[in-house]
Amino acid sequence: MLGGDTGAVRIAATQQLPGPAWAELPDLELLQTWPPAQPLPGVEVLVAVVVPVGAEELDLLPDLRLVANYGAGYDTVDVAECRERGIPVTNTPGVLDAAVADLTLALILACRRHVVTADRLVREGRWQRRWAQPELLGHDLAGSTLGLVGLGRIGSEVAQRAEAFGMHVVFNRRSGGLPLDELLRTADVVSLHVPLTDETRGLVSRERLALLRDGSTLINTARGTIVDEDALVEELVSGRISAGLDVFAAEPNVPEPLLGLPNVVLTPHIASATVETRAAMTRVLVDNVLAFVRGEPLLTPVDR
Ligand code: DGY
Repeated sequence: MLGGDTGAVRIAATQQLPGPAWAELPDLELLQTWPPAQPLPGVEVLVAVVVPVGAEELDLLPDLRLVANYGAGYDTVDVAECRERGIPVTNTPGVLDAAVADLTLALILACRRHVVTADRLVREGRWQRRWAQPELLGHDLAGSTLGLVGLGRIGSEVAQRAEAFGMHVVFNRRSGGLPLDELLRTADVVSLHVPLTDETRGLVSRERLALLRDGSTLINTARGTIVDEDALVEELVSGRISAGLDVFAAEPNVPEPLLGLPNVVLTPHIASATVETRAAMTRVLVDNVLAFVRGEPLLTPVDR
C-alpha cells in the first residue's frame, strides 16, 4: 500500500536494512559511497546507517528534509547542525532494550565465570585435570552488586534480569541514585547505559576507573568514548579489573593490547544483533519515513 505514497519523495540510504518493513520503501536509492562523491540535489530523506552526518555531508544534500537514523544512539548525527538547517532527525528507540540487556547479562556471565577463557582452554586441549582443581574460579552473580550507570529503558531491563540472578542492583542517573564515584567504589560489576552526549563523553575517566574495586568488572554496551579507552586498556593490562566490551572508541578498531588478554571479553557491537530486534529497528525507521512522506507527525523524533 505504501509504494505509491513514497513516489514523490526521493529517499537515499547508506545501506540496506534487514526485515520485511524495508520493502515498503520501493523507490529508495542505495548510495554506493558515503559521503557521496558529488552533491545529490533532490534527495529529501536520508536513511543513515552508522555514518557521520554533519555540516560537510549535509552540504552535499541541499534538499534534505529528514535524517532517519538506524539505531537508538544517534551520536554520529550532528543534531544541532540538522536543527539549524530545519532538518528533523529520527532514531529507533524502544525496540532494542531487551536484546541489549540480554547481551549485557551475557557479558557479565562471560566475565564473572570465565566462559571465554574456559572455552579456549578446552579447544586448545589444555583441559588436563579433574574439575575440583582451583582453576577458573569465578564469582557468583547472586549476592554480588551490580552498579548501573544510567537507568533508562535499557538499564531498567538489565536491572530486572540481574535481580532474577540474585544480584543487588544500585544505580546512578541524572535524577538520583548513588553518586557515580560511590557506585564505582562499591559495585562488583559496573555496567554503562547512558547515551553518548557532550555530558557523558569521557564520563568514566582515568580517575574514575581507578575507583573501581580490585577484581571488579566493567561492562560497556553503550558507546566506547564514554570511557577513557587508553586508561581502560592500562587497567586491563595490569589485570586489576576485568571487562566485557561490545563498543569501542574507534570501531571497528579494537586496541591491540586487549586482544591477548584473558580478563576481557570482546564482541563487535552486537548488542542489538538479533534477527527480531534488527527487523523491529527497521520497522521503526520505515514508519518514521512513511509518516514524513504522508505529512504526518514523526513517531520518534530526536529532540535535544
Ligand atoms: C544503537 O541502536 O544505538 C545500538 O548501539 C545498536 O546496537
